[in-house]
Amino acid sequence: MSQHRTLFSVCSVPAEWVYPLRSAVLLEGRSDSCRFRGDDEASTLHLAVYQDERIVAVATVCREALSGSVSDAEWRLRGIAVEEGLRGYGLGRLLVKLCLDHVQKEGGRLAWCTARETARKFYELLDFVSFTPPFTLPSRAGVRFYEMHHVLPGGHGPDVD
Ligand SMILES: CC(C)(COP(=O)(O)OP(=O)(O)OC[C@H]1O[C@@H](n2cnc3c(N)ncnc32)[C@H](O)[C@@H]1OP(=O)(O)O)[C@@H](O)C(=O)NCCC(=O)NCCS
Repeated sequence: MSQHRTLFSVCSVPAEWVYPLRSAVLLEGRSDSCRFRGDDEASTLHLAVYQDERIVAVATVCREALSGSVSDAEWRLRGIAVEEGLRGYGLGRLLVKLCLDHVQKEGGRLAWCTARETARKFYELLDFVSFTPPFTLPSRAGVRFYEMHHVLPGGHGPDVD
């Protein structure tokens, strides 16, 4: 009896390669807004998980200070998206861990993200916390977001006045 084994691999990719899944999963298929500030910075990391030859999960982390901060040790996690049929298998956790490893390697002390309500628990399980009330964005009416922080080893909370 032959068995088909699915092979997953993860690697860093150019920004353009994460856009299709980012658009499909996070932006309801819109491609006009799939480029984020920081995507093209040299320090930014874009990760893709491949199932055989196909990208099935993506994540990005870029250096970006929190609002009101001028710290260069704060990094933003963005565009974490796992194809629907492959959720719950640890791909999201793996991508966040690899992004945090990158932040640490680059001397970052705090990672943050804007988590939609439906993903809040996922981030909490990965030791992200939110201190402020939820907010909405003009571009995403009806969706509640939370700013969530993860302090890296040796780091501390936000450098906000
Ligand atoms: C949120 C998302 C990235 C999680 O990826 P995933 O590969 O399914 O997550 P994992 O399998 O690594 O899950 C890690 C843990 O979080 C839990 N979890 C994952 N998604 C969750 C969710 N939406 N709500 C509650 N818990 C969740 C898992 O059960 C698992 O818990 P366990 O370790 O106790 O078993 C994925 O569901 C997704 O792409 N969702 C749509 C896009 C999105 O919301 N992205 C985040 C933007 S803010």
